[in-house]
Amino acid sequence: MAMNVPDNRLLILFVILGLFLTACGDGESWVDDHGYGPVEEPLELGEIDEVLAVEGKQIFDTHCNNCHGMNSSISGPALGRVTENRTPEFVVNYTLNPRENRQNHPVGQELSDQYSGVMADTGISKEEAITILEYLRYYAEFREEPEAGE
Ligand code: HEC
Repeated sequence: MAMNVPDNRLLILFVILGLFLTACGDGESWVDDHGYGPVEEPLELGEIDEVLAVEGKQIFDTHCNNCHGMNSSISGPALGRVTENRTPEFVVNYTLNPRENRQNHPVGQELSDQYSGVMADTGISKEEAITILEYLRYYAEFREEPEAGE
């Protein structure tokens, strides 16, 4: 009987270790698909909204289009189809946290090998980044620039 006590403890230890590793695993796969934060939960996105997309384009033209075209890469990659290849959360996270994603995320590491430029922190807010996402979603869907409603 006395021998069972350490065995049970060992079992419990393995169960706890297993749970711990599973939890870590889930964390890793979130980062794989969604990049390093600030966004750590799914974004709630509705139908593509052209008015918001126009706003996003204005922010993009101020902060991003020196380095990114829609169909052409400049010092950074073309972004006209980026939402087809990445999750919305990844796009927003890369926009807000380029350095950590370039250094630690496999996608960022690959991009930094491909592009001579280095994406600097643009200092925009999360709300602005989500507005830019609307523009990128619009462009990927309709293959044209959104226009302010007349
Ligand atoms: C100084 C040039 C520069 C500016 C300004 C810039 N970027 Fe970048 N961007 C890059 C480069 C270079 C990369 C790829 C390697 C890296 O991260 O340095 C990149 C990568 C990205 C990626 C990842 C693309 C993919 O295929 O996953 C996204 C998304 C992105 N940028 C969005 C933006 C947005 C949105 C803005 C404006 C708020 C912006 N960038 C401003 C240069 C820039």
